[in-house]
Amino acid sequence: MRLQKYLAHCGVASRRKSEELIQQGLITVNGQVVTEMGYKVTVGKDEVTFKGKLVVPEKQKLYIMLNKPEGVITSSNDQFNRKTVIDLVATDYRIYPVGRLDYDTSGLILLTNDGEFANQMMHPKYKIPKTYHALVKGSPTQVEIESFEKGLLIDGSYTHPASLKILKEDTLSLLEIIISEGRNRQVRKMCDVIGHPVRHLKRVAFGNILLGSLKEGHWRYLTVAEINELKERSSIQ
Ligand code: URA
Repeated sequence: MRLQKYLAHCGVASRRKSEELIQQGLITVNGQVVTEMGYKVTVGKDEVTFKGKLVVPEKQKLYIMLNKPEGVITSSNDQFNRKTVIDLVATDYRIYPVGRLDYDTSGLILLTNDGEFANQMMHPKYKIPKTYHALVKGSPTQVEIESFEKGLLIDGSYTHPASLKILKEDTLSLLEIIISEGRNRQVRKMCDVIGHPVRHLKRVAFGNILLGSLKEGHWRYLTVAEINELKERSSIQ
């Protein structure tokens, strides 16, 4: 890893500021001052110091929510160089998304560097409810709503009980849909099955975390209370 990246990763300073520290001769690697930009260090092997103190990776855990716009990929890197959710969050930590939203879905996505937390949030056993606003063609009948709620056959198996509420009825209706699974394109497929294809889809809540007024493309750290509530949900159920 490049020295300035390592310093940033360890929380010494931003990458740009770390470059200044290197130029100023304040960083040593294995006892030698290094002023060469881009000098490569092997994490866990080379001994890096700043002001005489050993620099080690921080163990701080980050929990972030992002309002993903449509047209952004939920992954850490994309083979076609399209914008990813990671590109939208300014941090030197290596974070990754918790689950995924489709390229054409917007809304709330969590990002973290806490692998244990990410696994628990995605594990089907904890049934974390995910709430969506879907703009669909037409308006579902009571019979269609009931079949949606009971479970629909998609990709060869039935979906778990879900909830569907009509928020606004028109030629394009606005639905509030809550599912507790995370199957591929699940909301879109369920709406297709009841004959009301999705035109726009946005996730507005993940468990107790609400998207609220966070603007598209913006992110914030979760509060301690939000993190604790999510963690409790997965350990007490
Ligand atoms: N269901 C979908 O169909 N798409 C998403 O992005 C999330 C849930």
